[in-house]
Amino acid sequence: QAVHLADYRVPAFLIDHVDLRIELFEDCALVHSRLNIRRNPADESQARDLVLNGEELGLESLMLDGRPVENHRVDEGFLTVPSVPEHFHLDVTTRIHPRDNTRLEGLYQSSGMFCTQCEAEGFRRITYFPDRPDVMACYRTRIEADREAYPVLLANGNPVDWGELEDGRHQVTWEDPYPKPSYLFAMVAGDLVEKRDEFVTGSGRTIDLRMYVEARNEAKCEHALASLKKAMAWDEEVYGREYDLDIFMVVAVDDFNMGAMENKGLNIFNSSCVLASPETATDAAYDRIESIVAHEYFHNWSGNRVTCRDWFQLSLKEGFTVFRDNQFSADMGSPTVQRIDHVNMLRTAQFAEDAGPMAHPVRPDSYIEIANFYTLTVYEKGAEVVRMIHTLLGPDMFREGSDLYFARHDGQAVTTDDFVRAMEDASSRDLTQFRRWYEQAGTPELRVTDAFDAESGTYTLTIRQSCPATPGQSHKEPFHIPVRMGLIASDGEALPLDAEQNTETVLELTDTEHSFQFSGLAERPVPSLLRGFSAPVKLDYSWTRDQLMFLMSRDPDGFNRWDAGQKLAVDVILSIQQGRDTEVDPRLVEAYRTLLTTPGLDRAMVARMLALPSTAWLIELTDEADVAAIDGARHQVEQTVARALRDELLQVRADHHPGGDYAFEPGQVAARSLSNSALALLTRIGDDQGRDQALAQFDQATNMTDRLAALKALVDSPFSQEREDALARFHADWQHDPQVVEQWFAAQSGSPWIGNVNRVTELLAHPAFDWKNPNKVRMVIGVFAGRNLTHFHSPDGSGHRFLGEQIRRLDAFNPQISAQLAQPLTRWRQYAPHLRDSMAGVLRELRDLPDLSRDLYEVVTKSLGES
Ligand code: ARG
Ligand code: ZN
Repeated sequence: QAVHLADYRVPAFLIDHVDLRIELFEDCALVHSRLNIRRNPADESQARDLVLNGEELGLESLMLDGRPVENHRVDEGFLTVPSVPEHFHLDVTTRIHPRDNTRLEGLYQSSGMFCTQCEAEGFRRITYFPDRPDVMACYRTRIEADREAYPVLLANGNPVDWGELEDGRHQVTWEDPYPKPSYLFAMVAGDLVEKRDEFVTGSGRTIDLRMYVEARNEAKCEHALASLKKAMAWDEEVYGREYDLDIFMVVAVDDFNMGAMENKGLNIFNSSCVLASPETATDAAYDRIESIVAHEYFHNWSGNRVTCRDWFQLSLKEGFTVFRDNQFSADMGSPTVQRIDHVNMLRTAQFAEDAGPMAHPVRPDSYIEIANFYTLTVYEKGAEVVRMIHTLLGPDMFREGSDLYFARHDGQAVTTDDFVRAMEDASSRDLTQFRRWYEQAGTPELRVTDAFDAESGTYTLTIRQSCPATPGQSHKEPFHIPVRMGLIASDGEALPLDAEQNTETVLELTDTEHSFQFSGLAERPVPSLLRGFSAPVKLDYSWTRDQLMFLMSRDPDGFNRWDAGQKLAVDVILSIQQGRDTEVDPRLVEAYRTLLTTPGLDRAMVARMLALPSTAWLIELTDEADVAAIDGARHQVEQTVARALRDELLQVRADHHPGGDYAFEPGQVAARSLSNSALALLTRIGDDQGRDQALAQFDQATNMTDRLAALKALVDSPFSQEREDALARFHADWQHDPQVVEQWFAAQSGSPWIGNVNRVTELLAHPAFDWKNPNKVRMVIGVFAGRNLTHFHSPDGSGHRFLGEQIRRLDAFNPQISAQLAQPLTRWRQYAPHLRDSMAGVLRELRDLPDLSRDLYEVVTKSLGES
């Protein structure tokens, strides 16, 4: 059942041109496709039969060079046409049922419109086709539909023909001149409003930018269009990449399995990742939209012009594109804050994936269902791997490597190895060993020890690397790891590390153990290691609490200042949980007090530093995690800190809250973030002034960032009456807006205070909940299991059983979503015995179900160590 990288063979047939005519009706669609096919000269298999993929298709007609085919076979998933000629054209008509397509793969309906999602293997649910990314063709697409119900008809490329048809129908024909794999095909039909803008490229071409949304969302397009223009300008400036078609379209769709999709010239987005207005979307949503719009746009080069040879190479486009969108976000706002948020997510979620039963390399070597491999490892660790190449080569060489990669492979379907080779060829660096980052799974661990010889003034750092075994990989070879670092003297001075007086350097680890010497030092320095998180590794060095406090305020690297604070807080929390301490170390409180009272600090940074390490991160750092105990310790620390700093928090509220018109602008965002963090801490300790401020802010806020922050502050507080009143009012005010209702759901399902199984069960019965809408499912069930660890890991196992029941229900109609939701259960081995047993029990029950989808089967059996 599994597909293996080692079995890759070039396609036996190539397709030069695809001509599609798609007739849309209310209860079905007819897809007429003409394929120009020829034998692949590079194929040595001499295959005589043409084998096409196809799923849930009604085959209406099949003709080869104009003559009906009679000897074909239709099997589960395939259409075989025996003994075909060297060159021919094939005409295929299939009947499909978009209205009944609940998997949201292929062509489906979402709130009255037709749309597609073809990556990775959805095109085979539209028509018979060699549905693999290394078959690249030029597409012409004619869409026919009722004119009144579907005035807007879109597909990839440029519109070349349109007109009226009989019976009130019309057609629009699109032509995409760039060869592309089938996963980049897209079409949309609906009654949509169009928002126009334009962008003039560096070479002076004017690109038509168009955004299509339902009429009710008309006022929510501005931010996405502004983000798009920034991304287009940035990609020209930083990567020399100009847009290639005359028109670029963005469509918002309510029912969508993922965030968004980079279809050539016609990006389709989950509404939640593209629509925003100050009244309905938070700063976090603005930020996410800016980066996702950029991400999809950047795919036009890293993904579309140069695509993947096969799905094992997924990180070729995703790792590189995430790296590019991270760089873009860093340039749009604060690079340090961007890095902190990103690493925080990577370390909690991707590290957990790497340590669990689904661990796989950035370039996996086998899969059962490719949809399960759109993972944090492929995306986020993949981006870190590209970042390390950037660090090793430096920005200029990296750019040369990227230019070479695009020039060499334009129009091709290639591998991660081709990417690395372009980087090597441009820079003359040898990345042979570095390639292990693509091949070996698991998070490497660095153990650092040091010694100082006072007599000679020599400081020696010794770094040992290791990497735990992962499924199918018991032994690991050493990685090539860049460690950016510096040394700091006791007076806070950054010490020179070499003859050129550089105070920062990148150590390159290649062996299992390496020692690095620094001489000419007057005293033992404090090491600042892995600056900017220069490699996705776990680092172990025994800093004292005093050293961590010192680094929190003195490290020249902002990321490491934050990380020192996290390490200090982790140490304080875990020593309470493990009974090594009973009281909260007052130094932690003082460190926070300093942060709150030092003038001139970046407020976004202060907000991040004040946030205690998440329960998820603490679990990741603990063997046999007892969630209730960890939570208890974390809660104790939070309460102590917030009580001790009450006056300073109130002062922050008085000083920093921005008034006036909302703008998504770094200064305002930072001020809101700090002020709202202070509010949350005040309400959590049950402070009356905090409560009054939250109520006032809830009443008066003119933007969703402040309104939702006030709501959450009340929800996660002991003020039970105020909390329920606020929830009711929020719902009454916003019930007409599904995106805001999603936030309302998440505020409850994610709440450690109120989001227990009973509450979440009630939410499932709420009229606004919709099983067929992935966003609703994610916001209630996904947020509960993924973020509300307190209640999900309730010691009686009720949270686990609840999730199991919902997965089972969802698997019957949307397997991608059921498999996504099962993720939290896969980490079962990380937990204390009582939790572990109950999670594994739920996994076993799922495994034993009849008719398990392939998606869920893979997740469940691999988690149990059975496949
Ligand atoms: N390529 C899309 C993106 O990263 C995601 C598509 C996900 N599709 C899937 N079947 N999982 O922007
Ligand atoms: Zn992507």
